[in-house]
Amino acid sequence: MRHKGVLWGVVVHPLYRNVGVARELLGAAFTHARTMRLMQIHLRASTENHRARRLYTSSGLAGYGVERLSHPFPCLYFDEETMVLYLDGEHADASLLPL
Ligand SMILES: CC(C)(COP(=O)(O)OP(=O)(O)OC[C@H]1O[C@@H](n2cnc3c(N)ncnc32)[C@H](O)[C@@H]1OP(=O)(O)O)[C@@H](O)C(=O)NCCC(=O)NCCS
Repeated sequence: MRHKGVLWGVVVHPLYRNVGVARELLGAAFTHARTMRLMQIHLRASTENHRARRLYTSSGLAGYGVERLSHPFPCLYFDEETMVLYLDGEHADASLLPL
């Protein structure tokens, strides 16, 4: 049974940032996920990516785990946090629980 979706590669062209495009895209993705009867949406974001993390938390996602030194960049490794949004009413509050 399909119950979980993963969002990957959320990017808005620099010319179109800061006007709500990503928030609209996330909303459309969540609506689509609900029509597919998915229960959970997961994604990952660098702990240094404050812009993306603020977008995700204000869209209802909550972090539940950090992978240290996950993302290799030239000469640098970033930590990545996995975040989840529970779409069904029964478990929705779980995404808001403190870690
Ligand atoms: C992160 C990204 C997708 C946001 O796209 P966007 O279309 O500019 O975002 P929005 O305009 O929908 O803004 C949504 C929220 O993001 C946050 N945000 C947007 N611009 C911000 C800024 N300059 N500083 C801090 N937070 C900001 C805010 O929480 C904003 O909510 P608001 O409506 O209260 O301002 C975009 O900056 C991007 O493509 N970045 C490079 C790729 C990337 O890092 N992707 C995420 C990988 S996990």
